[in-house]
Formats: sequence, structure tokens, C-alpha cells
Amino acid sequence: MAASFLLAILILVSAAGSTKGDSFIITVYSSGHYFISVGGNVWLNSAPTFFRANNKVYSTDDGSLKLLETTGTSGSDFIGKWQATNFLYQADTYRFLASIYFYTPDPSIFSGNNPPEQFVIFKQTYLNATNGTMANTNDDVIAGFPGFVVENTPVPRGFLSYGGGQFGYQEKTFGDFLPPLNISDGITSGPFCIFDRNKTANTFILSPASSFMSANLMYQKNGPLANIYWGTMGGVNNVPANFETSTILVFSNQGINKGFVSWGEILQKMYRRDDSFVKSDFTNNYLGYYTDNGAYYYYYTEPQKNYEDTIIDIVTAINDTGIPFRYLQFDSWWYYKGAGNGVKTWEATPQVFPNGMQWLYNKTGLPLTAHNRYWASDTTYAKQNGGQYSFIVDKTKALPLEQIFWDDLLGNARKWGLMTYEQDWLQGEFGGVAALTEDVHLAETWLNQMGRGAAKNGLTIQYCMSLCRHALHAISIPVVTQIRASQDYHPGQDQWRIGVTSMLAYAIGIAPFKDNFWTTTIQPHGKHSNRTEPYPELNALVATLSTGPVGPSDMIGKFNKTIIMRSVNSDGLILKPSRPATAIDNMIRRLAWDDFEGPDGEVWSTYSDFGGDNKYGIVLAADLQGSYNMTPCMAGFQGFPKSMVFSTKDPNKVQLLTDPQPLLLSGCTMVDFCLYYVSPVTTYGGQQVLIQGELDKWVPMSPQRVVDINFDSSDIIVRIAGGANEIVNFSFNTDGVSKSLQCDLGDSGFATISYKAWGCTYG
Ligand SMILES: *[C@@H]1O[C@H](CO)[C@@H](O)[C@H](O)[C@H]1NC(C)=O
Ligand SMILES: *[C@@H]1O[C@H](CO)[C@@H](O)[C@H](O)[C@H]1NC(C)=O
Ligand SMILES: *[C@@H]1O[C@H](CO)[C@@H](O)[C@H](O)[C@H]1NC(C)=O
Ligand SMILES: *[C@@H]1O[C@H](CO)[C@@H](O)[C@H](O)[C@H]1NC(C)=O
Ligand SMILES: *[C@@H]1O[C@H](CO)[C@@H](O)[C@H](O)[C@H]1NC(C)=O
Ligand SMILES: *[C@@H]1O[C@H](CO)[C@@H](O)[C@H](O)[C@H]1NC(C)=O
Ligand SMILES: *[C@@H]1O[C@H](CO)[C@@H](O)[C@H](O)[C@H]1NC(C)=O
Ligand SMILES: *[C@@H]1O[C@H](CO)[C@@H](O)[C@H](O)[C@H]1NC(C)=O
Repeated sequence: MAASFLLAILILVSAAGSTKGDSFIITVYSSGHYFISVGGNVWLNSAPTFFRANNKVYSTDDGSLKLLETTGTSGSDFIGKWQATNFLYQADTYRFLASIYFYTPDPSIFSGNNPPEQFVIFKQTYLNATNGTMANTNDDVIAGFPGFVVENTPVPRGFLSYGGGQFGYQEKTFGDFLPPLNISDGITSGPFCIFDRNKTANTFILSPASSFMSANLMYQKNGPLANIYWGTMGGVNNVPANFETSTILVFSNQGINKGFVSWGEILQKMYRRDDSFVKSDFTNNYLGYYTDNGAYYYYYTEPQKNYEDTIIDIVTAINDTGIPFRYLQFDSWWYYKGAGNGVKTWEATPQVFPNGMQWLYNKTGLPLTAHNRYWASDTTYAKQNGGQYSFIVDKTKALPLEQIFWDDLLGNARKWGLMTYEQDWLQGEFGGVAALTEDVHLAETWLNQMGRGAAKNGLTIQYCMSLCRHALHAISIPVVTQIRASQDYHPGQDQWRIGVTSMLAYAIGIAPFKDNFWTTTIQPHGKHSNRTEPYPELNALVATLSTGPVGPSDMIGKFNKTIIMRSVNSDGLILKPSRPATAIDNMIRRLAWDDFEGPDGEVWSTYSDFGGDNKYGIVLAADLQGSYNMTPCMAGFQGFPKSMVFSTKDPNKVQLLTDPQPLLLSGCTMVDFCLYYVSPVTTYGGQQVLIQGELDKWVPMSPQRVVDINFDSSDIIVRIAGGANEIVNFSFNTDGVSKSLQCDLGDSGFATISYKAWGCTYG
């Protein structure tokens, strides 16, 4: 570094207003070295840039990767203004550009009060078609930029690393940002986050920003130290000229949750994500009946009956209970399997449905979410097996290559009621066809074709068993509306802990899905006859707070209607909050540091936002050891008006919630979890009034129920919507006394509640 000079110091000016915290600085030297600091302390020092070609590694470390030129450029695009430093490298005859873009986004293109602040994009550009790039393993990168040293610094930092299957749930890790880092790297890597111990965490989030399907995070041991790099996955051996891959770094001085929201907002803008599909998705909005893994009828029928008769019996039983299930989910049990248990033909076998899918759809009238898995090498659709379509066939698995295949497959499925296409085993398909990890574009082509096929047919897609890469790529596929956020359900197990993955799903605008659940503890004589579900209410609550599908999966006769109806209105519309409930920052930091003052257990928060000051919070604590004092700030309720908090257990007992007067959470188990609601304080006739809402629902103030709130000195008016002739009990708390009034929604399904008149008029 001796001969180098400082090219540019790019300084972030915090725009956080009165709560202005630290800002970050990226310092870039013309030598190719860069570092990132916060409040004058270095957080991340660059690691040497390297590049593979001609089956060799060229590195700035030993000078084999030669820096030809460093230039500064600036410009703007639809995201905002940028300043860039570009390093032109040469490795043998190949040229490679490594650039650091410092963006100042245009606040007007972002919704909300806290538009993301400055961020950095690191870009790699292959100026030549480059051969012999393959690394030692698929989990490495073929060129490392950016790279950072994992080392001790004066500021202790912790990390959260998403990784592994089910959208980074299975191998997510937390700890000290010090070597050796226990993270899932390579093919199974995901977004990476580091934070400090400040009251409000200073947070960096790093992830790929493009070519998501071919990008890796690589962890490289280096003596007592280590480096982390981003770049293209190690299996790629030939890179086309002008190929680009990039990595984003987002900083927040507003904590981990807020940092992820900013990070996701930027990526959603970059890929022009249209959120209307997630919002309007039928299966995200209505109650469904599930038959997937863990469900009572997963690969299991009623005694002496086939699946067709079992499904008809389920539908009749549902009808008899009057529970408004609006669709069914069929898991992998209905279609033809081939080699390696992959899908041979995505059609119902006559053993399962002797009269066929369309006949059954005509009979039940219920649309479907239908499961699919990886394609078997003997799939009947492939030309290799006498079918009509081009496929790659590789060992036991196969990959469709043509758009028309997806158009035909999904167009045909519409005729039998398909509404949401559930693509399971995304990780298995990706790892099972070698070409997918050898080519920089093939995997994104696969997902794009699936997405286009669904969009053309008016369908949405659920991703299951995805890696983080699939989900990040789906930012640009708006019909991907829901994603499994934990492992498969099994009664009594702990896959309900989706608070950390829900934070990631919310950031990228895809609804997290908890999977199915039982609503009755004991369901005898089934496939799972020796399993019980001690926590049916917790499962139902978590599903409802997810904003994704709510899918009970009980045996006929074992539906608990009381529990199920707490999630929905009389039409089966899910009464959910405005955003998924997510793990609070201090829960995440406690997972990273045992000695941190965060809760030892699950503490999540969410809210319903009706605009202006009409914000209603929800706090859930479960499986919490000891107690925890929850401030509104830690719950993410900054900017809420003066509010009071009360427990579902006693809506008469209200207390102010402020940072000096936090909410004490204690005695919160899985059976007897703690559920608190937060309402703004209004005054009427000199009395203190809280709108408490529909207390027999998990979300008493849901935008799906409450369509308008108006109050002034003359009255408090709440307009609500629901099913025709639905009866809604709606509560107000006046000076510490909670009272409900009963409201009949009449034929129109609408009513207006007047606090002053203490009544409700429909229409
Ligand atoms: C790489 O591209 C540069 C021009 O950008 C050219 O001079 C050089 O010959 C190319 N190298 C190879 C191996 O194609
Ligand atoms: C790494 O993290 C995983 C997942 O939390 C854990 O099971 C494993 O024990 C950890 N390994 C080490 C060496 O700490
Ligand atoms: C080099 O890579 C290109 C693709 O970028 C490929 O078409 C070509 O066949 C490769 N050449 C060799 C010798 O592998
Ligand atoms: C559902 O129940 C109603 C009566 O509650 C009955 O009229 C209707 O035929 C039933 N439908 C099915 C599919 O069983
Ligand atoms: C299902 O109903 C449609 C529309 O009424 C009809 O055209 C079709 O023949 C029916 N299919 C079967 C298999 O019953
Ligand atoms: C439950 O049954 C399954 C399958 O029959 C068996 O593998 C498992 O060991 C049983 N578990 C218990 C706790 O009995
Ligand atoms: C349904 O669940 C509620 C709430 O947990 C419980 O009180 C009730 O006993 C359950 N009903 C049945 C029939 O199990
Ligand atoms: C509304 O409250 C009344 C009186 O407490 C109760 O009888 C009724 O079941 C409730 N209705 C609903 C839909 O919860």
C-alpha cells in the first residue's frame, strides 16, 4: 500500500433525523484496497481480490492479478446517483473489472417514512469470455470481490447468517464475527448480516445483488484469520464476455429489522417488484386445508378408502362444520413417480383419483395448491423418453428447457382447479442437475420460465425447500407470492419458529409460510398416531401472523372450530396484520451473544397500519426463559402515537407503553404464550378510550376487517367489513374497562360502528 494514494473517501451523511446515529464510511484506495468504518472504527478491511482463469488463481496478494488502471466515474440511474471507483485487472490475457459503486438513492422512489440511505454495490465484470475458471468445489467462488477479512477489531460485532434449506432456515447461524465463523457458505449460503452491541444496532447486510442463482458467499480460512468473499459459484468453468455479478452492502443505524427492510426495498426497486400479486394472492388470503408432510392425510387415507373418496369425505366434513376452507392443498401423493422418486408425469394416478382431477374439482368446487418436485430422468415429457419437450437428463434428475413446456403444463392444470403451483425440492433440483451449477444463466432461465408459465395462466407460485438464492432470484418474479420459512411440520415439533426467516421474507416482499398444523392435540389411528400437537393455538397464531397461508391439516372430526375461526372472518378471509411478525433485534443479538441483554426465547412483533396515527401493535413471546422488558422502540414501534398495551388474557388491564415504561414479558411458554396488543390512546368526553377491536381473533385490528377509522371530539367511527350476515364483537376500553358491542354486518357485509351511539349500522 506504500505507493498507493487515497482515491476517494465516500462519506455517508446520516439522514435519520432526530435519532441520528452513526454513519458509515467506505474508504477506497487507488491500489485496490478498501475498508469500511462506522463512527471512526474500522469494521471491515478488504481481502485480496482474486480471479480464476486457465485453471490458475490470479491474486492481488502475490501480484499475479495485475492492476492496470484505477478510474473514477459517476452517473445516475432510476435508483439514484452513484460515484464509482473501477479497478481494471489483468490475469494473463484476460481482463476483469472490479468496481465499487456508492449510491445515493432517490428518496422519492421509495414508499414509507424511512427511505434507505446510501448503499454500496460491488460489481465484477468479465471483459473477456473466460475459460478454465472452475474452482476446487462448487462452494468456492471463481473470482473473489468483494472480500473482507474476518478479524478482531475494537468494536465487538455479531453476525446472523442465513443458510441451508428452507430459505436459509435450516443452517442459519449466529455468533461473534470472529474466525472461525460457523456459517453455511457456498451453494447453501444466504444473506449475511453483522451488527454491534449499541442500544440500536449499527447493522450491515451483505448479499448478492444480481445473478442470484450463480452467486456464492465463500468462507476461506487463512491461518488464524479468515476471509469472506462474494462471487460466482465454483462449478462454473466458462464465463461469457461481459458477464456481471454484483454484491450489495446496506448499512442501517436503525437496527437489524430496519436494515433488512432497507436492503429489501432497494433490491425490490432494482428488480421493479410488483407487490400486487402477493397482496391479492387467493391462497395467501383465504383459509386452506392441507395434506402435506405432517398433515393427518399425508400419504394416508381413511380406512378402506382411496384418496378420491377421502378427499370427498373431507370436503363434506368441512362443509358440515361450517368452517370456511376455500381451497385444498394436494401434496406429492397424487402424481406419477419415476427414477429417484422424481416426478415422471404430473398427473393423477388412477389408484389415487380413479375419476381424474377435473372430475374431483367439479365435485368439490374447491381450487387447489398442488405440489410438484424435481423431474425424474425418466419423465414422460422429455424427448429422450418419447415426450414432446427438450430436457437435460442427468443421472436420476431432469431439467425442462423450453418455455412452452411450462405454458402447457400449467395451462392444463388450470382445468383441474390449480390456483397456486407449489414447487418443492428447489434445492434438490438445483443440486441434482450438474448443468445448473456449471452455467451462469441456466438456473435463472429455469425459474423464469416457470414464473412466466404461471403468470400467463393467472397462477401464483409457492417455493418450498428453496435455498436463499432461489428466493432472492424470485424478487424479479412477482407471481412467486409465498415461501416456506422453516422445515416440514410434524405435530409437536418446533418448526413454528419462523421469526428470523420471516424478517428475510418480508424484506424481499414474499409472504413466509409456516406450513400446515393440527388444531387438536390428539388425532388417533393416523400415520402419525404416536404424535401429538401440544401447541395448536401457538401454531394457528404463528400462521396468522405470518401473512402467508393458514392451513390446518386435521383428521375428519378433529377440526377445532374455535381455534380456526380466530384466524379468519366468516368467508375464510385471513384476518392478518400489515406485515409478518418478525424476531425483534435483541432476540437475534441474544442468539449471537449469550451474555447480551436480549430475551432468551422467541419474542416477535408486528402491527396493523391504517395510515397516519392509526397503528396497532402486536407482541408475541413464547418459550421465553425468564423475563424480558420490551420497549416500543425494540418492538419496532418507533413513530407510533401515545399507546397503551394489554394482554389477550385481560383487556381491562391496560398500561402505557413507552421506552421508560416497557412491557414486562414473563411466564411465556408454548402452551401459555404471551400475546399483547398495542392501541393508540384517544380521548372522548374526558375519558381515555382505546379501540381494542375484535378480541376473539388473533389479530383484533386487521386491515382485512377494519376498513376505516375516524375520530374527533364528536365520535369514534370504525367501518368494518366481513361476510354477509357475519356477527362481529368489537371492543373498546374506556378508562380501563373493556366492553364489547355486537355488530351484524347484514347482507352487504359492511357496518359502521359508532362509539358515541354504542352501536352499529350495517350497509
Ligand atoms: C480480452 O479483451 C481485451 C480487450 O478488452 C483484448 O485486448 C484481449 O485480447 C482479450 N483477451 C482474450 C484472451 O480474449
Ligand atoms: C454451527 O452451527 C450449527 C447450527 O447452529 C450448530 O449445530 C453447530 O454445532 C455449530 N458448530 C460449531 C462448531 O459451533
Ligand atoms: C470457452 O468459453 C466459452 C463460453 O464462454 C465456450 O463457448 C468455449 O467453448 C470455451 N472454450 C473452451 C476451450 O473451453
Ligand atoms: C354443504 O352443506 C349444505 C347445508 O349446510 C348443503 O346444502 C350442501 O349440499 C352441502 N354441500 C356439500 C358439497 O356437501
Ligand atoms: C367438469 O365441468 C366442466 C364444466 O362444467 C365440464 O366441461 C367437464 O366435462 C367436467 N369434467 C368432468 C371430468 O366431469
Ligand atoms: C412413532 O412411530 C414411528 C413410525 O411408526 C416410529 O418410527 C417412531 O419411533 C415412533 N415414535 C415414538 C416416540 O414412539
Ligand atoms: C378448542 O380449542 C379451545 C381453545 O384452545 C379449547 O378451549 C377447546 O376445548 C377446544 N375444543 C375441542 C373440542 O377440543
Ligand atoms: C359475541 O359476544 C357474545 C356475548 O359475549 C357471545 O355470546 C357471542 O358468541 C360472541 N359472538 C362472536 C361471533 O364471537
